[in-house]
Amino acid sequence: MYYSDEAGDELKFDIEMRLFFLAIFSIALPTVYSVGVNEDFTWTRISYVWPNDRGNRVSRQSKGSTNGVNGERENQVENLDTSNSAPPSIDYQYVNNIPMGANVWKNKLFITVPRRRLGVPSTLNYIRLDSSQKHNVPLIPYPNWNTNLYPDTSGRNENFCSVYRVGIDPCDRLWFVDTGTIEIPGNRTQVIPTTLIIMNLQTDRVIQRYVIPQDQLRTTTTLASVTIDVTKDTCDNAFAYLPDLGGYGLIVYSLKENRSWRVTHNYFYLESTSGEFQIAGHNFQWNDGVFSVELTDTQPDGYRDMFFHSMAGTHMYKVSTRILRNETLATRSYHETDFKEVGDRGPRSQTSSADLYKPTGTLFLGLVNQNALGCWNIKQPLSTISIVQKDDQKMIYPSDVKIVEDKVYLLTNTMPEFLYGRLNYDQVNFRVWSNRVDDAINGTRC
Ligand SMILES: *[C@@H]1O[C@H](CO)[C@@H](O)[C@H](O)[C@H]1NC(C)=O
Ligand SMILES: *[C@@H]1O[C@H](CO)[C@@H](O)[C@H](O)[C@H]1NC(C)=O
Ligand SMILES: *[C@@H]1O[C@H](CO)[C@@H](O)[C@H](O)[C@H]1NC(C)=O
Ligand SMILES: *[C@@H]1O[C@H](CO)[C@@H](O)[C@H](O)[C@H]1NC(C)=O
Repeated sequence: MYYSDEAGDELKFDIEMRLFFLAIFSIALPTVYSVGVNEDFTWTRISYVWPNDRGNRVSRQSKGSTNGVNGERENQVENLDTSNSAPPSIDYQYVNNIPMGANVWKNKLFITVPRRRLGVPSTLNYIRLDSSQKHNVPLIPYPNWNTNLYPDTSGRNENFCSVYRVGIDPCDRLWFVDTGTIEIPGNRTQVIPTTLIIMNLQTDRVIQRYVIPQDQLRTTTTLASVTIDVTKDTCDNAFAYLPDLGGYGLIVYSLKENRSWRVTHNYFYLESTSGEFQIAGHNFQWNDGVFSVELTDTQPDGYRDMFFHSMAGTHMYKVSTRILRNETLATRSYHETDFKEVGDRGPRSQTSSADLYKPTGTLFLGLVNQNALGCWNIKQPLSTISIVQKDDQKMIYPSDVKIVEDKVYLLTNTMPEFLYGRLNYDQVNFRVWSNRVDDAINGTRC
């Protein structure tokens, strides 16, 4: 078992339990407000488009997963039903379904629901971006129901178990880590190995399944996001960077070599004096390290820079992918000056997910300690960091930030209230926001 550190798990749970609630106004960052982002989709509770052939679910579900070249097929939907109750064979407890990740490919808005409790029927899902319904849109399992069922009765052990966030690359591929873990507090169970999965979005098929070697994992490992380093012209030579927020390291995967290595550096750790959070009347300490990593455009030397930060921290760091992509350089025990400190973003700038709009170098940051989306232009001093939008009711826990073409997407999920209080499932708890990057940052210094 990778996860034997129950004390650590409990600590993390306890820590996460305390974020939540109404509103503290504390404005440490410069208060430059912009046009911001718009609420695209809202949910009071998460439901699913159920398979409607309840007696014969397994055989029906495997239909229609191979045709289609544009990924916009709707045939799965035709076989499904949108009533509120799950078939008896599916364990669905809506109170345990907290969406954590969002990303967009063409008309699909992917929504992930990690299995942190029982009663999550499907971990990888999508809705249609052009859906005319905007509220409580039921999620559609991707690529189908069968692949998402737990327990997995197929005998192949290839069902998706638990996915936090997904990456999408310019080669129409979906990348994600299946943690393989059911994270019930006090009973964290590894049911399949931690696996990096790559899918072809045009065909909806899994094209690579890479089990992460156990010696690259730690007892506290949590791989909750994926950043892909590739261009449209070099699809076969892709690299993926997997920040290990619980194990304080970075796993680098080379698609061409189909192997990975683990990079260690002190900058991947929590910052001991920046783990204090004060959110909505709750004071607590978090210990998450390197949380998400962001890539710039290719630099003159042919490599991108990777920016990164810890969730329990306020500093920004960077390292060239020239180092990361070379296993020898990436894993040497002393890194000399390869890793650079960019600076300190300032008090209360603790950040969950972030993503970079490469053409202008605009970084968007999920400012968890301020219930806000922030931005910073990487060509400017860190002191120019700005607030794109802040809302102490509606933006509690910005969980995922993604740039897709010229738009920024944000998922907020009120997770702390789920963990420490009691979500009111008759109110809107989960939101996907978006706007064009230019419009979102209008009025800021980004
Ligand atoms: C722990 O979780 C696993 C997997 O969900 C389950 O099989 C087992 O019965 C649970 N154990 C306890 C003590 O709840
Ligand atoms: C890649 O490596 C994994 C090891 O986890 C192996 O199972 C898989 O078959 C390999 N894929 C290819 C295409 O070599
Ligand atoms: C990795 O870096 C080492 C040390 O600089 C160098 O000798 C080697 O050629 C590099 N490997 C690749 C594949 O570039
Ligand atoms: C910013 O917003 C103002 C006011 O709505 C508008 O006049 C201006 O054109 C916008 N600027 C850009 C760059 O979009």
